Amino acid sequence: MGDQTRRDMAPTTTETNPENDLGFAEKAAGACAFVLFGASGDLTKRKLVPALFNLGKAKLLPENFALIGVSVDDLSLEDFRTQVTSFLPSGAESAEALQWFRKRLFYERGDFADPLTFVRLRERLAALDAEQNTGGNYLFYLATAPKFFSQIVQQLGAATLSRQQNGQWRRVVIEKPFGHDLESAQALNREIKSVLQENQIYRIDHYLGKETVQNIMVFRFDNAIFEPIWNRRYIDHVQITNAETVGVERRGGYFDTAGTLRDMVPNHVMQLLSLTAMESPVSFQADAVRNEQAKVLHSILPLGPDEVLQRSVRGQYGPGLLGEEKVSAYRAEPGVSQESRTETFVALKINIDNWRWAGVPFYFRTGKRLAQRHTEIAIQFKRTPFELFRKAPFHKLHTNTLVIQIQPVEGISLSFGAKIPGPLLRVGSVDMSFEYSKYFGADAYTGYEVLLYDCMIGDATLFQRADMVEAGWKVVDPVLDVWRALPPRKFPNYTSGSWGPAEANQLLELDGRQWRRIEP
Ligand code: BG6
Repeated sequence: MGDQTRRDMAPTTTETNPENDLGFAEKAAGACAFVLFGASGDLTKRKLVPALFNLGKAKLLPENFALIGVSVDDLSLEDFRTQVTSFLPSGAESAEALQWFRKRLFYERGDFADPLTFVRLRERLAALDAEQNTGGNYLFYLATAPKFFSQIVQQLGAATLSRQQNGQWRRVVIEKPFGHDLESAQALNREIKSVLQENQIYRIDHYLGKETVQNIMVFRFDNAIFEPIWNRRYIDHVQITNAETVGVERRGGYFDTAGTLRDMVPNHVMQLLSLTAMESPVSFQADAVRNEQAKVLHSILPLGPDEVLQRSVRGQYGPGLLGEEKVSAYRAEPGVSQESRTETFVALKINIDNWRWAGVPFYFRTGKRLAQRHTEIAIQFKRTPFELFRKAPFHKLHTNTLVIQIQPVEGISLSFGAKIPGPLLRVGSVDMSFEYSKYFGADAYTGYEVLLYDCMIGDATLFQRADMVEAGWKVVDPVLDVWRALPPRKFPNYTSGSWGPAEANQLLELDGRQWRRIEP
Protein backbone atom coordinates (compact mmCIF):
# COMPACT_ATOMS: atom_id res chain seq x y z
CA MET A 1 0.00 0.00 0.00
CA GLY A 2 1.20 3.54 -0.44
CA ASP A 3 3.46 3.67 -3.45
CA GLN A 4 0.87 4.03 -6.17
CA THR A 5 -0.15 6.78 -8.47
CA ARG A 6 -3.51 8.14 -9.40
CA ARG A 7 -2.72 7.17 -13.00
CA ASP A 8 -2.27 3.51 -12.44
CA MET A 9 -4.11 2.75 -9.26
CA ALA A 10 -7.35 0.80 -9.39
CA PRO A 11 -9.61 2.28 -6.70
CA THR A 12 -11.43 -0.04 -4.36
CA THR A 13 -14.73 1.00 -5.92
CA THR A 14 -15.81 0.81 -9.51
CA GLU A 15 -17.95 3.94 -9.46
CA THR A 16 -16.87 5.96 -12.44
CA ASN A 17 -17.55 9.49 -13.40
CA PRO A 18 -16.45 10.16 -16.93
CA GLU A 19 -18.02 13.61 -16.80
CA ASN A 20 -16.20 15.05 -13.83
CA ASP A 21 -14.64 18.40 -14.55
CA LEU A 22 -11.65 18.22 -12.23
CA GLY A 23 -9.71 16.53 -14.97
CA PHE A 24 -7.33 14.62 -12.72
CA ALA A 25 -9.16 11.35 -12.27
CA GLU A 26 -12.05 9.44 -13.58
CA LYS A 27 -12.94 7.33 -10.62
CA ALA A 28 -14.30 7.99 -7.19
CA ALA A 29 -12.07 7.10 -4.26
CA GLY A 30 -12.93 3.95 -2.32
CA ALA A 31 -15.15 3.88 0.78
CA CYS A 32 -13.63 5.69 3.77
CA ALA A 33 -14.16 7.92 6.76
CA PHE A 34 -12.36 11.26 6.89
CA VAL A 35 -11.59 12.29 10.46
CA LEU A 36 -10.84 15.96 10.78
CA PHE A 37 -8.99 17.12 13.89
CA GLY A 38 -9.23 20.90 14.18
CA ALA A 39 -12.69 20.96 12.66
CA SER A 40 -13.39 24.60 13.52
CA GLY A 41 -10.04 26.01 12.46
CA ASP A 42 -9.09 28.41 9.72
CA LEU A 43 -7.69 25.79 7.33
CA THR A 44 -10.84 23.69 7.63
CA LYS A 45 -12.90 26.73 6.84
CA ARG A 46 -10.88 28.19 3.95
CA LYS A 47 -9.60 25.09 2.20
CA LEU A 48 -10.56 21.65 3.48
CA VAL A 49 -14.34 21.93 3.54
CA PRO A 50 -14.59 23.69 0.15
CA ALA A 51 -12.18 21.14 -1.38
CA LEU A 52 -14.07 18.14 0.00
CA PHE A 53 -17.31 19.63 -1.21
CA ASN A 54 -15.84 20.15 -4.69
CA LEU A 55 -14.69 16.54 -4.74
CA GLY A 56 -18.18 15.43 -3.75
CA LYS A 57 -19.71 17.59 -6.45
CA ALA A 58 -17.35 16.09 -9.03
CA LYS A 59 -18.38 12.63 -7.78
CA LEU A 60 -14.84 11.81 -6.75
CA LEU A 61 -15.80 11.08 -3.17
CA PRO A 62 -17.20 7.60 -2.62
CA GLU A 63 -20.91 7.09 -1.95
CA ASN A 64 -19.79 5.45 1.30
CA PHE A 65 -18.13 8.49 2.76
CA ALA A 66 -18.32 10.16 6.16
CA LEU A 67 -16.60 13.26 7.50
CA ILE A 68 -16.19 13.30 11.27
CA GLY A 69 -15.10 16.54 12.83
CA VAL A 70 -13.28 16.40 16.16
CA SER A 71 -12.69 19.45 18.33
CA VAL A 72 -13.22 20.75 21.86
CA ASP A 73 -16.15 22.94 20.87
CA ASP A 74 -19.46 21.97 22.34
CA LEU A 75 -21.51 21.47 19.17
CA SER A 76 -24.58 19.39 18.42
CA LEU A 77 -24.67 17.42 15.18
CA GLU A 78 -27.00 20.05 13.75
CA ASP A 79 -24.65 22.89 14.84
CA PHE A 80 -21.72 21.13 13.23
CA ARG A 81 -23.56 20.54 9.97
CA THR A 82 -24.60 24.17 9.85
CA GLN A 83 -21.09 25.34 10.69
CA VAL A 84 -19.49 23.21 7.97
CA THR A 85 -21.93 24.25 5.29
CA SER A 86 -21.38 27.90 6.24
CA PHE A 87 -17.73 27.36 5.18
CA LEU A 88 -18.80 26.83 1.57
CA PRO A 89 -18.35 29.89 -0.61
CA SER A 90 -21.74 31.23 -1.59
CA GLY A 91 -22.76 30.11 -5.02
CA ALA A 92 -20.65 26.96 -4.74
CA GLU A 93 -23.54 24.83 -3.55
CA SER A 94 -25.95 23.06 -5.78
CA ALA A 95 -28.87 21.97 -3.60
CA GLU A 96 -28.41 18.33 -4.49
CA ALA A 97 -24.66 18.27 -3.88
CA LEU A 98 -25.16 20.15 -0.64
CA GLN A 99 -27.69 17.67 0.64
CA TRP A 100 -25.43 14.77 -0.32
CA PHE A 101 -22.52 16.33 1.55
CA ARG A 102 -24.46 17.46 4.62
CA LYS A 103 -25.84 13.99 5.24
CA ARG A 104 -22.32 12.65 5.54
CA LEU A 105 -21.14 15.06 8.23
CA PHE A 106 -20.70 13.89 11.83
CA TYR A 107 -19.17 15.35 14.96
CA GLU A 108 -17.31 14.09 17.99
CA ARG A 109 -16.50 16.52 20.80
CA GLY A 110 -13.30 15.86 22.65
CA ASP A 111 -9.99 16.99 24.05
CA PHE A 112 -6.97 15.59 22.17
CA ALA A 113 -5.16 15.00 25.49
CA ASP A 114 -7.92 12.72 26.76
CA PRO A 115 -7.59 9.02 25.78
CA LEU A 116 -11.36 8.69 26.16
CA THR A 117 -11.85 10.99 23.15
CA PHE A 118 -10.14 8.36 21.04
CA VAL A 119 -12.07 5.49 22.59
CA ARG A 120 -15.30 7.31 21.71
CA LEU A 121 -13.94 8.07 18.25
CA ARG A 122 -13.16 4.39 17.69
CA GLU A 123 -16.70 3.45 18.66
CA ARG A 124 -18.15 6.16 16.48
CA LEU A 125 -16.07 5.01 13.51
CA ALA A 126 -17.13 1.40 14.01
CA ALA A 127 -20.77 2.53 14.07
CA LEU A 128 -20.27 4.50 10.85
CA ASP A 129 -18.60 1.48 9.25
CA ALA A 130 -21.81 -0.39 9.97
CA GLU A 131 -24.24 2.39 9.03
CA GLN A 132 -22.45 4.07 6.13
CA ASN A 133 -20.32 1.17 4.91
CA THR A 134 -17.13 3.18 5.22
CA GLY A 135 -15.19 -0.06 5.13
CA GLY A 136 -12.91 0.46 8.11
CA ASN A 137 -10.69 2.78 6.01
CA TYR A 138 -9.81 5.93 7.92
CA LEU A 139 -8.02 9.09 6.91
CA PHE A 140 -7.04 11.22 9.90
CA TYR A 141 -6.35 14.84 8.99
CA LEU A 142 -4.40 16.87 11.56
CA ALA A 143 -5.50 20.44 10.81
CA THR A 144 -4.49 21.49 14.32
CA ALA A 145 -1.76 23.53 15.95
CA PRO A 146 1.57 21.68 15.54
CA LYS A 147 1.87 21.02 19.28
CA PHE A 148 -0.89 18.41 18.89
CA PHE A 149 0.63 16.44 15.97
CA SER A 150 2.62 13.95 17.98
CA GLN A 151 0.04 13.71 20.75
CA ILE A 152 -2.80 12.84 18.36
CA VAL A 153 -0.70 10.23 16.58
CA GLN A 154 0.23 8.63 19.92
CA GLN A 155 -3.43 8.59 20.93
CA LEU A 156 -4.44 7.01 17.61
CA GLY A 157 -1.83 4.33 18.24
CA ALA A 158 -2.97 3.70 21.81
CA ALA A 159 -6.59 3.39 20.68
CA THR A 160 -5.46 0.95 17.90
CA LEU A 161 -6.93 3.31 15.34
CA SER A 162 -3.71 3.36 13.35
CA ARG A 163 -3.55 -0.40 12.91
CA GLN A 164 -4.03 -1.60 9.32
CA GLN A 165 -5.46 -5.07 9.05
CA ASN A 166 -7.69 -7.18 6.80
CA GLY A 167 -7.04 -4.88 3.85
CA GLN A 168 -8.30 -1.81 5.73
CA TRP A 169 -6.08 1.23 5.48
CA ARG A 170 -5.31 3.96 8.04
CA ARG A 171 -3.54 7.13 6.95
CA VAL A 172 -2.57 10.34 8.72
CA VAL A 173 -2.18 13.73 7.04
CA ILE A 174 0.11 16.16 8.84
CA GLU A 175 -0.01 19.85 8.09
CA LYS A 176 2.89 22.25 8.28
CA PRO A 177 4.93 23.48 10.08
CA PHE A 178 6.66 20.15 10.40
CA GLY A 179 9.11 21.05 13.18
CA HIS A 180 10.78 24.41 13.73
CA ASP A 181 14.34 23.28 12.92
CA LEU A 182 16.17 20.11 11.91
CA GLU A 183 16.30 18.67 15.40
CA SER A 184 12.61 19.13 16.12
CA ALA A 185 11.64 17.80 12.67
CA GLN A 186 13.75 14.69 13.31
CA ALA A 187 12.18 14.28 16.74
CA LEU A 188 8.67 14.59 15.28
CA ASN A 189 9.51 12.04 12.60
CA ARG A 190 10.79 9.63 15.26
CA GLU A 191 7.68 10.09 17.38
CA ILE A 192 5.14 9.57 14.61
CA LYS A 193 7.12 6.69 13.13
CA SER A 194 6.97 4.89 16.46
CA VAL A 195 3.25 4.52 15.68
CA LEU A 196 2.94 4.69 11.89
CA GLN A 197 4.69 3.20 8.88
CA GLU A 198 6.13 5.79 6.50
CA ASN A 199 3.52 4.83 3.88
CA GLN A 200 0.74 5.79 6.30
CA ILE A 201 2.12 9.33 6.73
CA TYR A 202 1.10 12.12 4.35
CA ARG A 203 3.08 15.31 5.11
CA ILE A 204 1.21 17.92 3.17
CA ASP A 205 2.61 20.97 1.39
CA HIS A 206 -0.16 22.86 -0.32
CA TYR A 207 2.22 24.12 -3.01
CA LEU A 208 2.13 20.65 -4.51
CA GLY A 209 -1.63 21.05 -4.98
CA LYS A 210 -1.06 23.95 -7.37
CA GLU A 211 -1.58 23.00 -11.00
CA THR A 212 1.47 24.84 -12.29
CA VAL A 213 3.70 23.26 -9.69
CA GLN A 214 2.55 19.80 -10.77
CA ASN A 215 3.03 20.90 -14.35
CA ILE A 216 6.77 21.48 -13.82
CA MET A 217 7.36 17.75 -14.12
CA VAL A 218 5.13 17.38 -17.16
CA PHE A 219 6.78 20.37 -18.79
CA ARG A 220 10.28 19.07 -18.16
CA PHE A 221 9.84 15.37 -18.74
CA ASP A 222 7.08 15.19 -21.33
CA ASN A 223 8.73 17.53 -23.81
CA ALA A 224 11.96 16.50 -25.45
CA ILE A 225 13.11 20.02 -26.32
CA PHE A 226 13.87 21.44 -22.87
CA GLU A 227 15.76 18.70 -21.08
CA PRO A 228 18.90 18.83 -23.26
CA ILE A 229 19.48 22.47 -22.31
CA TRP A 230 18.36 22.14 -18.68
CA ASN A 231 21.85 22.19 -17.17
CA ARG A 232 24.96 24.20 -16.35
CA ARG A 233 26.11 24.39 -19.99
CA TYR A 234 23.12 26.48 -20.99
CA ILE A 235 21.65 27.90 -17.81
CA ASP A 236 23.28 30.90 -16.18
CA HIS A 237 21.21 30.93 -13.01
CA VAL A 238 17.72 30.34 -11.62
CA GLN A 239 15.57 32.83 -9.70
CA ILE A 240 12.62 31.84 -7.58
CA THR A 241 10.36 34.68 -6.45
CA ASN A 242 7.54 34.14 -4.03
CA ALA A 243 6.07 37.51 -3.22
CA GLU A 244 2.97 38.21 -1.17
CA THR A 245 1.14 41.48 -0.64
CA VAL A 246 -0.57 40.29 2.53
CA GLY A 247 0.98 40.89 5.93
CA VAL A 248 0.68 38.40 8.76
CA GLU A 249 -3.06 39.04 9.10
CA ARG A 250 -4.46 37.22 12.14
CA ARG A 251 -1.49 34.90 12.47
CA GLY A 252 0.88 37.31 14.24
CA GLY A 253 1.16 35.08 17.31
CA TYR A 254 2.38 32.08 15.31
CA PHE A 255 4.37 34.04 12.78
CA ASP A 256 6.38 36.01 15.32
CA THR A 257 7.82 32.76 16.67
CA ALA A 258 8.48 31.38 13.18
CA GLY A 259 9.50 34.04 10.62
CA THR A 260 9.59 33.76 6.84
CA LEU A 261 12.62 31.50 6.66
CA ARG A 262 10.88 28.72 8.60
CA ASP A 263 7.43 29.48 7.23
CA MET A 264 8.26 29.31 3.53
CA VAL A 265 11.72 27.93 2.76
CA PRO A 266 12.15 24.33 3.99
CA ASN A 267 8.75 23.49 2.53
CA HIS A 268 7.33 25.57 -0.34
CA VAL A 269 10.56 26.98 -1.74
CA MET A 270 12.34 23.62 -1.49
CA GLN A 271 9.47 21.95 -3.35
CA LEU A 272 9.73 24.45 -6.20
CA LEU A 273 13.48 24.08 -6.26
CA SER A 274 13.54 20.29 -6.18
CA LEU A 275 11.01 19.93 -8.99
CA THR A 276 13.00 22.40 -11.09
CA ALA A 277 16.36 20.79 -10.45
CA MET A 278 15.63 17.05 -10.06
CA GLU A 279 16.70 14.35 -12.49
CA SER A 280 14.02 12.48 -14.40
CA PRO A 281 12.46 9.79 -12.22
CA VAL A 282 12.38 6.26 -13.62
CA SER A 283 8.60 6.15 -13.26
CA PHE A 284 5.75 8.23 -11.89
CA GLN A 285 5.53 6.06 -8.78
CA ALA A 286 5.56 8.02 -5.54
CA ASP A 287 8.95 6.85 -4.36
CA ALA A 288 10.60 7.11 -7.74
CA VAL A 289 9.64 10.80 -7.88
CA ARG A 290 10.46 11.50 -4.26
CA ASN A 291 13.84 9.77 -4.49
CA GLU A 292 14.87 12.24 -7.19
CA GLN A 293 13.56 15.23 -5.23
CA ALA A 294 15.37 14.04 -2.13
CA LYS A 295 18.64 13.59 -4.05
CA VAL A 296 18.60 17.20 -5.20
CA LEU A 297 17.83 18.48 -1.73
CA HIS A 298 20.73 16.46 -0.37
CA SER A 299 23.02 17.96 -3.02
CA ILE A 300 22.49 21.53 -1.82
CA LEU A 301 25.77 22.71 -0.36
CA PRO A 302 25.24 23.65 3.30
CA LEU A 303 26.23 27.23 4.00
CA GLY A 304 29.09 27.89 6.42
CA PRO A 305 28.77 30.87 8.84
CA ASP A 306 30.66 33.27 6.53
CA GLU A 307 28.59 32.19 3.56
CA VAL A 308 25.41 32.82 5.51
CA LEU A 309 26.56 36.41 5.99
CA GLN A 310 27.36 36.83 2.30
CA ARG A 311 24.49 34.93 0.79
CA SER A 312 21.47 35.53 2.94
CA VAL A 313 19.36 38.64 3.41
CA ARG A 314 16.57 39.14 5.91
CA GLY A 315 14.06 41.92 6.16
CA GLN A 316 11.08 43.13 8.10
CA TYR A 317 8.39 45.40 6.70
CA GLY A 318 7.73 48.87 8.00
CA PRO A 319 4.59 50.89 7.23
CA GLY A 320 3.83 51.80 3.66
CA LEU A 321 1.35 51.96 0.85
CA LEU A 322 -0.17 49.04 -0.97
CA GLY A 323 -1.75 50.67 -3.94
CA GLU A 324 -3.82 53.41 -2.31
CA GLU A 325 -4.12 51.68 1.01
CA LYS A 326 -1.98 52.67 3.98
CA VAL A 327 -0.71 49.62 5.82
CA SER A 328 1.04 49.39 9.15
CA ALA A 329 4.41 48.01 10.12
CA TYR A 330 4.92 44.37 11.06
CA ARG A 331 5.67 45.45 14.63
CA ALA A 332 2.22 47.05 14.83
CA GLU A 333 0.39 43.88 13.76
CA PRO A 334 -1.81 42.13 16.34
CA GLY A 335 0.04 39.40 18.24
CA VAL A 336 3.49 40.74 17.24
CA SER A 337 6.00 42.13 19.72
CA GLN A 338 6.74 45.84 19.30
CA GLU A 339 10.45 45.06 19.32
CA SER A 340 10.12 41.98 17.15
CA ARG A 341 13.24 40.86 15.30
CA THR A 342 11.37 38.30 13.26
CA GLU A 343 11.99 38.43 9.52
CA THR A 344 9.15 38.83 7.03
CA PHE A 345 11.46 38.68 4.00
CA VAL A 346 14.27 36.34 3.02
CA ALA A 347 16.61 36.19 0.04
CA LEU A 348 19.20 33.48 -0.34
CA LYS A 349 21.73 32.21 -2.83
CA ILE A 350 22.42 28.50 -2.85
CA ASN A 351 24.39 26.07 -4.96
CA ILE A 352 23.55 22.52 -5.91
CA ASP A 353 26.62 20.36 -5.93
CA ASN A 354 25.97 17.85 -8.67
CA TRP A 355 26.94 17.18 -12.28
CA ARG A 356 23.97 19.02 -13.75
CA TRP A 357 24.05 22.16 -11.63
CA ALA A 358 27.63 22.76 -10.44
CA GLY A 359 28.35 26.49 -10.73
CA VAL A 360 24.72 27.54 -11.41
CA PRO A 361 23.44 29.70 -8.55
CA PHE A 362 19.84 29.41 -7.44
CA TYR A 363 18.60 32.67 -5.94
CA PHE A 364 15.32 32.97 -4.19
CA ARG A 365 13.37 35.67 -2.43
CA THR A 366 10.16 35.44 -0.52
CA GLY A 367 8.39 37.96 1.64
CA LYS A 368 5.24 39.57 2.89
CA ARG A 369 3.86 43.02 2.08
CA LEU A 370 5.78 43.19 -1.18
CA ALA A 371 4.70 45.20 -4.19
CA GLN A 372 2.75 42.41 -5.89
CA ARG A 373 1.46 38.93 -5.31
CA HIS A 374 3.61 36.91 -7.62
CA THR A 375 5.24 33.49 -7.59
CA GLU A 376 7.49 32.34 -10.40
CA ILE A 377 10.53 30.31 -11.28
CA ALA A 378 12.74 32.02 -13.85
CA ILE A 379 15.37 30.03 -15.71
CA GLN A 380 17.90 32.45 -17.07
CA PHE A 381 19.84 31.01 -19.99
CA LYS A 382 23.40 32.00 -20.90
CA ARG A 383 24.10 34.60 -23.51
CA THR A 384 25.22 33.62 -26.98
CA PRO A 385 28.96 32.82 -27.13
CA PHE A 386 29.43 35.30 -29.97
CA GLU A 387 27.48 38.49 -30.29
CA LEU A 388 26.84 38.92 -33.96
CA PHE A 389 24.64 41.97 -33.46
CA ARG A 390 26.89 43.73 -30.97
CA LYS A 391 27.24 46.78 -33.20
CA ALA A 392 23.59 46.98 -34.19
CA PRO A 393 22.17 50.43 -33.42
CA PHE A 394 19.87 50.56 -30.40
CA HIS A 395 21.00 47.11 -29.49
CA LYS A 396 19.12 46.23 -26.34
CA LEU A 397 20.66 43.56 -24.17
CA HIS A 398 18.42 40.58 -23.83
CA THR A 399 18.76 37.04 -22.58
CA ASN A 400 16.57 34.00 -23.01
CA THR A 401 14.45 33.52 -19.93
CA LEU A 402 11.95 30.79 -19.38
CA VAL A 403 9.45 31.76 -16.70
CA ILE A 404 7.15 29.32 -14.99
CA GLN A 405 4.46 31.49 -13.43
CA ILE A 406 2.69 29.94 -10.52
CA GLN A 407 0.41 32.68 -9.22
CA PRO A 408 -1.68 34.71 -9.57
CA VAL A 409 -1.41 34.06 -13.32
CA GLU A 410 -0.54 30.47 -14.12
CA GLY A 411 1.49 29.96 -17.26
CA ILE A 412 4.84 29.67 -18.96
CA SER A 413 6.68 32.19 -21.09
CA LEU A 414 9.91 32.30 -23.00
CA SER A 415 11.62 35.51 -23.94
CA PHE A 416 13.97 35.81 -26.86
CA GLY A 417 15.54 38.41 -29.11
CA ALA A 418 13.78 39.57 -32.27
CA LYS A 419 14.46 42.15 -34.89
CA ILE A 420 12.45 45.29 -34.31
CA PRO A 421 10.66 46.10 -37.58
CA GLY A 422 12.10 48.97 -39.59
CA PRO A 423 14.98 49.87 -41.89
CA LEU A 424 17.53 49.95 -39.04
CA LEU A 425 18.76 46.73 -37.50
CA ARG A 426 17.53 46.86 -33.94
CA VAL A 427 17.10 43.93 -31.62
CA GLY A 428 14.51 43.76 -28.86
CA SER A 429 13.19 41.23 -26.42
CA VAL A 430 9.84 39.52 -27.11
CA ASP A 431 7.80 36.84 -25.33
CA MET A 432 6.13 33.63 -26.33
CA SER A 433 3.62 32.87 -23.67
CA PHE A 434 1.07 30.32 -22.59
CA GLU A 435 -1.59 31.00 -19.97
CA TYR A 436 -3.44 28.17 -18.33
CA SER A 437 -6.76 29.97 -18.11
CA LYS A 438 -6.77 30.84 -21.80
CA TYR A 439 -6.34 27.20 -22.78
CA PHE A 440 -8.19 25.41 -20.05
CA GLY A 441 -10.58 28.01 -18.61
CA ALA A 442 -10.63 29.38 -15.07
CA ASP A 443 -9.81 26.98 -12.28
CA ALA A 444 -12.35 27.11 -9.47
CA TYR A 445 -10.48 24.77 -7.17
CA THR A 446 -8.60 25.42 -3.98
CA GLY A 447 -5.57 23.23 -4.75
CA TYR A 448 -6.47 20.89 -1.91
CA GLU A 449 -8.81 18.73 -4.02
CA VAL A 450 -6.04 16.80 -5.69
CA LEU A 451 -4.15 16.34 -2.41
CA LEU A 452 -7.17 15.06 -0.48
CA TYR A 453 -8.15 12.78 -3.31
CA ASP A 454 -4.61 11.39 -3.51
CA CYS A 455 -4.62 10.59 0.22
CA MET A 456 -7.87 8.69 -0.22
CA ILE A 457 -6.53 6.59 -3.10
CA GLY A 458 -3.14 6.12 -1.43
CA ASP A 459 -0.98 8.07 -3.86
CA ALA A 460 1.82 9.75 -1.92
CA THR A 461 3.63 11.32 -4.90
CA LEU A 462 2.66 14.85 -3.92
CA PHE A 463 3.55 14.44 -0.23
CA GLN A 464 6.82 14.90 1.54
CA ARG A 465 8.72 11.95 2.87
CA ALA A 466 10.61 12.17 6.17
CA ASP A 467 13.99 12.49 4.44
CA MET A 468 12.75 15.35 2.23
CA VAL A 469 11.48 17.35 5.17
CA GLU A 470 14.73 16.86 7.02
CA ALA A 471 16.79 17.78 3.94
CA GLY A 472 14.82 21.05 3.71
CA TRP A 473 15.65 21.88 7.31
CA LYS A 474 19.33 21.07 6.70
CA VAL A 475 19.46 23.94 4.21
CA VAL A 476 17.80 26.35 6.61
CA ASP A 477 19.41 25.38 9.91
CA PRO A 478 22.84 27.04 9.38
CA VAL A 479 21.09 30.29 8.47
CA LEU A 480 18.90 30.12 11.55
CA ASP A 481 22.00 29.57 13.71
CA VAL A 482 23.87 32.59 12.39
CA TRP A 483 20.80 34.82 12.49
CA ARG A 484 20.11 33.83 16.07
CA ALA A 485 23.72 34.64 17.07
CA LEU A 486 23.66 37.98 15.25
CA PRO A 487 20.26 39.63 15.71
CA PRO A 488 19.27 42.12 12.99
CA ARG A 489 20.25 45.69 13.74
CA LYS A 490 18.18 47.69 11.30
CA PHE A 491 14.66 46.28 11.38
CA PRO A 492 12.28 47.37 9.88
CA ASN A 493 14.38 47.65 6.72
CA TYR A 494 11.86 47.69 3.89
CA THR A 495 8.73 49.64 3.17
CA SER A 496 5.46 47.82 2.71
CA GLY A 497 4.64 47.82 -0.99
CA SER A 498 8.30 47.69 -2.11
CA TRP A 499 10.33 44.70 -3.37
CA GLY A 500 12.14 44.18 -0.07
CA PRO A 501 15.39 45.47 1.45
CA ALA A 502 18.12 46.97 -0.73
CA GLU A 503 20.51 44.18 0.35
CA ALA A 504 18.42 41.72 -1.65
CA ASN A 505 19.36 43.61 -4.82
CA GLN A 506 22.99 43.74 -3.78
CA LEU A 507 23.03 39.96 -3.38
CA LEU A 508 22.63 39.61 -7.14
CA GLU A 509 24.50 42.77 -8.11
CA LEU A 510 27.65 41.38 -6.50
CA ASP A 511 27.42 38.55 -9.04
CA GLY A 512 26.75 40.96 -11.93
CA ARG A 513 23.09 39.96 -12.09
CA GLN A 514 19.74 41.41 -11.12
CA TRP A 515 16.30 40.26 -10.06
CA ARG A 516 13.83 40.00 -12.85
CA ARG A 517 11.56 42.98 -13.02
CA ILE A 518 8.07 41.79 -12.23
CA GLU A 519 5.66 43.79 -14.34
CA PRO A 520 2.38 44.83 -12.69
C1 BG6 B 1 1.62 29.20 4.09
C2 BG6 B 1 2.36 30.16 4.98
O1 BG6 B 1 2.16 27.92 4.19
O2 BG6 B 1 1.72 29.66 2.75
C3 BG6 B 1 1.78 31.54 4.85
O3 BG6 B 1 2.27 29.73 6.33
C4 BG6 B 1 1.79 31.98 3.41
O4 BG6 B 1 2.48 32.48 5.65
C5 BG6 B 1 1.15 30.93 2.53
O5 BG6 B 1 1.07 33.19 3.31
C6 BG6 B 1 1.33 31.26 1.06
O6 BG6 B 1 0.53 30.40 0.30
P1 BG6 B 1 -0.03 30.84 -1.12
O7 BG6 B 1 -0.70 29.61 -1.64
O8 BG6 B 1 -0.96 31.99 -0.89
O9 BG6 B 1 1.18 31.24 -1.90
